[in-house]
Amino acid sequence: MKTEPQVRTNLRLVGDLTVLRSKVMEDAEADYSWRIDPELASLDATRPVTLSLKEYLRYHRDDVRYPSPWSVRMAIDTHDGKHIGNCMYYDIDAEKSQCELGIMIGDRNYWSKGYGTDVVKTAVTHIFQTTELERVYLHTLTHNYRAQKSFTKAGFTAICEKQRDGYKFVFMEIRRTMWEADQAKSEIELSSRTSAN
Ligand SMILES: CC(C)(COP(=O)(O)OP(=O)(O)OC[C@H]1O[C@@H](n2cnc3c(N)ncnc32)[C@H](O)[C@@H]1OP(=O)(O)O)[C@@H](O)C(=O)NCCC(=O)NCCS
Repeated sequence: MKTEPQVRTNLRLVGDLTVLRSKVMEDAEADYSWRIDPELASLDATRPVTLSLKEYLRYHRDDVRYPSPWSVRMAIDTHDGKHIGNCMYYDIDAEKSQCELGIMIGDRNYWSKGYGTDVVKTAVTHIFQTTELERVYLHTLTHNYRAQKSFTKAGFTAICEKQRDGYKFVFMEIRRTMWEADQAKSEIELSSRTSAN
């Protein structure tokens, strides 16, 4: 029998470049500045939010206070504690044994420097190590080449193209078996490097 998802708070996942942690109230202003940004919205096939900061704070407070068991929202920090974006896994479906992953590095100074790859690898490792889910999938716009390259480096494979709400997306996935094979390969590489030294 599949286990139902649990509410997860106080997460702290440490990657090579980033730390993923549970969302806090103090994230609100940075989140708001990214959510009203037209370029960031278009990269995510959405519209910028039109709420005032005060209205947005109300939603943010509820999200922080009452986290859902079906989605896990995390902030992305650098190792020195700078909040640079957000990552979440959601639509957690125990029956289909899958969830969707989303990521947004809002601070452009951190684009194309390996942070996204690190976040996605860290989040996927956490999902496969702490749940019974067999598959993590995501959608990204067909013209978002940076995102596709980053997700591929993190172990995702493009499966097909999908059309939704007038946008064209690449549908990508990583399965537990692929992740386990990657883990085993990394361990072999590490041990052969260690024995060569
Ligand atoms: C998409 C995102 C998460 C990727 O994270 P990132 O840290 O910028 O990406 P990474 O550095 O891990 O990998 C990006 C790769 O794409 C390459 N790249 C950058 N722009 C590119 C382009 N226009 N075409 C092809 N490759 C490109 C980079 O050089 C890098 O490859 P390399 O490591 O071989 O040099 C991040 O850029 C982001 O959040 N952007 C804004 C919102 C967004 O696009 N979200 C995705 C919604 S699905």
